[in-house]
Amino acid sequence: MSAPSLAMRAAGLTFQNPVLLASGTAAYGRELDDVIALDALGGIVTKAVSLETRHGNAAPRVWDFEGGMINAVGLANPGVDTVKADHLPWLAHSLRRAQVLVNVVGRVAEDFGEVVAKLDDAPGFAAYELNVSCPNTRAGGLEFGADAAALTTVVSRARAATKRPLFVKLSPTLPDVGAMARVAVEAGADGITVINTIPGLVIDLAARKPALGFGSGGVSGPGLRPIGVLATAKVRRAVTVPIIGVGGVASAEDVLQYLVAGASLVAVGTAALANPRVPERIVRDLDRWCRSRGVTALADLVGTLEWPA
Ligand SMILES: Cc1cc2nc3c(=O)[nH]c(=O)nc-3n(C[C@H](O)[C@H](O)[C@H](O)COP(=O)(O)O)c2cc1C
Repeated sequence: MSAPSLAMRAAGLTFQNPVLLASGTAAYGRELDDVIALDALGGIVTKAVSLETRHGNAAPRVWDFEGGMINAVGLANPGVDTVKADHLPWLAHSLRRAQVLVNVVGRVAEDFGEVVAKLDDAPGFAAYELNVSCPNTRAGGLEFGADAAALTTVVSRARAATKRPLFVKLSPTLPDVGAMARVAVEAGADGITVINTIPGLVIDLAARKPALGFGSGGVSGPGLRPIGVLATAKVRRAVTVPIIGVGGVASAEDVLQYLVAGASLVAVGTAALANPRVPERIVRDLDRWCRSRGVTALADLVGTLEWPA
């Protein structure tokens, strides 16, 4: 059998394979360059980029527990001007085959469009991922993705500022993730990413204080996988745009779960923080899996889930 094709098409872009590094695990690429072959991956999603420099939350910012990890990094980042001047040129110069998605955050809905407008004439990246799972400071902390009006403003402002594809990253705690995916697509999104972390609290019993400096945090890791796979299947039924599946992925089988549920691309977060070589290994294992099953194109598996009647 000839080599199986792992390639995926999504939002007009070609990815050599479906495996991405999730936002927050690859910084802006450079830090991982000596550790793994970034260009062997389908792509990387950068750490969040905001209008202003964000120093992030008090330490500890991450905490391991039996079910995975909890973090409250606070979307620390150097701000859009520094990312544009210092990080995007490196990505433009260094990555030839892996696609780059830039993850964008804001304090208020209008910030997203402003960040996109500032970045958009820079080379070195293919698409944006809008992190609307973060709280809207003007609305008193309600996340953008939970409010149809705010979500529409975020996406339509970003849409007006770029022709590049826009992926919108939603939270698993929404009452109806499919409905919010529809709102995002109607406002101009080209794709949906599901899921972000789930809010949680780990307590340091000796101190009777939260284990994290910030207090609560976002839970990630293996337990998120079935939640992310269900969100993917729900979004698949609600909209036709491509989906990036994220949450608890650590193996080729985990990627396959997301593909069958309807994702075209799958991002690895916590597992790659623990071992940056995991995503590369997953790409090799996907190739092996296809060969062993006689699958000639991985894309044929996307959305093949059959729900019980
Ligand atoms: C340390 C850390 C930092 C993260 N930073 C971001 C971020 O900047 N923007 C974003 O949209 N998601 C961020 N995430 C969420 C991940 O991209 C991903 O959605 C989530 O962790 C679930 O995937 P996982 O179980 O594979 O980690 C972060 C996650 C972790 C663990």
